[in-house]
Amino acid sequence: KKKVILDVDTGSDDAIAIMLAVLSGKLDVVGITVTQGNKPLPNCVENTLRVLDLMGVGDKIPVCPGCPAPMVRTLTPGRYANNPENQVQAHNKKGEPIDLHPAYLPAPPAHSKPQNMHACTFLVETIKQSKEKITIIPVGPATNVGMAFRMDPTIADNVEEVVFMGGSVDKGNITPVGEANFVHDPEAVKIIIDSGVKCRIIGLNATHSAEFYREDADAYLAIGNAAGKLAHDLMYNRIEVGEALGWTQDGGDALHDALAVASVIDPTVITDLRQEPCDMDINGGAGDGQLIVDHRGGQDPNANTFVAYKADKKKFFQMIYDALKNQK
Ligand code: BDR
Ligand code: CA
Repeated sequence: KKKVILDVDTGSDDAIAIMLAVLSGKLDVVGITVTQGNKPLPNCVENTLRVLDLMGVGDKIPVCPGCPAPMVRTLTPGRYANNPENQVQAHNKKGEPIDLHPAYLPAPPAHSKPQNMHACTFLVETIKQSKEKITIIPVGPATNVGMAFRMDPTIADNVEEVVFMGGSVDKGNITPVGEANFVHDPEAVKIIIDSGVKCRIIGLNATHSAEFYREDADAYLAIGNAAGKLAHDLMYNRIEVGEALGWTQDGGDALHDALAVASVIDPTVITDLRQEPCDMDINGGAGDGQLIVDHRGGQDPNANTFVAYKADKKKFFQMIYDALKNQK
């Protein structure tokens, strides 16, 4: 089994990514490191533990809280309040307010506890001591991973690859050209890419090519276990928020973070992957946090970055289905 460390900011699509990683039976999840992003750090840690508890693996997988703010930038006060995903301003058809994250998880507090070790220390120590190379999957702002590469750049030698959820080759989601995870810590992403480590970048082009609809969520609910119900409820909630805020026209929604995990389990879920040199805009202007993909000259066999453009929805749906079914 491939050894992986998930780096999350849980988050509804993070929650589905965690379930896929843990329940698929195809990955050895050696630990989960947590950063801020969808919510402040303590909430993301709590959400992560509650998902693991619900899967029955709460005390089996170490969860390490990490950086509470980006590597270089100051967290703008009101950042979470200004994130539309975090405002309870959307309402479902019954007129009830929609809160994107906590409603469907078991009531807090989580039974399991986080480790008393910082995420960055965990990353450095675990990667250095591992006999096999480790794949890191950052599906939030990449602060913890960028910081670990700064703390000890030699860890790159024992990293199989970094599989990011982040970026876009054209349209962004929180700025015209910027995707949320990359915009929230562009320096971290740049440090990782510039280290020369192999990077696979699963961005918005790929995630939006494989959107999910209510009927997909219904199929997960029909599995009849807690994992299927949680996936269903989170997906419905995401779709309802998307509709209320005008992010979706046809009731479809991307499960961003889960696609990054799926691509580690089975790389063929990405049907268009191009080896193209990448850089990150950290200049503070309108393109700040934009993934800069060099399309000139076609693919480059020397590039350390592989960019995903398209995914196979049927395969992706089935992978999640098969994983959810495994929960007893
Ligand atoms: C990414 O931003 C976060 O809100 C999601 O969890 C996902 O990782 C999508 O841009
Ligand atoms: Ca995320």
